[in-house]
Amino acid sequence: MSLNVAVQMDPIERINIRGDSTFALLLEAQARGYPLSYYTPDQLAMRDGKVSATVRPVAVRDKAGDYFTLGEPRRTALDAFDVVLLRQDPPFDLAYITSTHMLERIQPKTLVVNDPAHVRNAPEKVFVTEFPDLMPPTLITRDLDTIKKFRAEHGDIVMKPLYGKGGEAVFRLAPEDLNFGSLYDLFAVTFREPWVVQKFLPAVKEGDKRIILVDGEFAGAVNRVPAPDDLRSNMVRGGVPKATDLTPRERDICARLGPALRERGLLFVGIDVIGDYLTEINVTSPTGIRSIKTLGGADIAALIWDKIEKKRK
Ligand SMILES: Nc1ncnc2c1ncn2[C@@H]1O[C@H](COP(=O)(O)OP(=O)(O)O)[C@@H](O)[C@H]1O
Ligand SMILES: [Mg+2]
Repeated sequence: MSLNVAVQMDPIERINIRGDSTFALLLEAQARGYPLSYYTPDQLAMRDGKVSATVRPVAVRDKAGDYFTLGEPRRTALDAFDVVLLRQDPPFDLAYITSTHMLERIQPKTLVVNDPAHVRNAPEKVFVTEFPDLMPPTLITRDLDTIKKFRAEHGDIVMKPLYGKGGEAVFRLAPEDLNFGSLYDLFAVTFREPWVVQKFLPAVKEGDKRIILVDGEFAGAVNRVPAPDDLRSNMVRGGVPKATDLTPRERDICARLGPALRERGLLFVGIDVIGDYLTEINVTSPTGIRSIKTLGGADIAALIWDKIEKKRK
């Protein structure tokens, strides 16, 4: 079958093709012969309720420094596409939320992956709280006394901004750390959102595992081991990807999440597990599929397009 595909993503000239999952999806779509169009979120428009974008045909190649060619721009109704891939990276801010509202308008004529309304309703560190028995002890607040109580109870904690990404402003505070008060003050003027305060998970030194689910089914995983001098496992912070398998607990976590993800049209999801605990459910623009394939795992881009084809039949 052929699908007319558009991808909404951040500027293509800035991606790192070795790690970029969107790029992997584009390569696979092109190999299947789908015509591909590209646009950035700022190209969206809604006129009298009709959503359009200035799109450009795009051709991709797996070659560093010379990986894409764009054709002539044209403005088109967005519901002219069979599929729109919503692959915009966070920040998950009002601009992001607005684009989910616009993309909602082209459904169900166009299949938007992931479903924009559910992307909007499932910020990664909030969605997890729907599964309290799977996550570590976690508090979301800006209230000082409530944080102090949590800290007194758990001792060793991690504090991070609720809408942070890529390891930004993630702090570990040992029980006797006297910097707590200043950190709290600094945060109050830097961020408008609440903190996530979490029990410190010592298993982090073994890694933070990214597990990909495609339409609610386990598809592949990669472990990310932090650099010896950092708490954070994010690859942009020097975390090293390693091949891995699922533990029985991780299989349980996938089985629990599967139906919830499927129901919500969250077709391409990356969850993060540290030790036995689920810490994030990434639905905006998960990464990891290129490293999973490089390390000998499944071809998840192919699995995703197989699923999309099935849904469009
Ligand atoms: N509760 C925790 N215990 C131990 N390490 C943590 C904890 N929370 C976060 N980290 C470390 O910080 C990194 C980034 O935190 P994370 O919650 O994944 O936010 P981000 O959205 O920035 O990736 C994790 O990959 C992990 O290495
Ligand atoms: Mg993370």
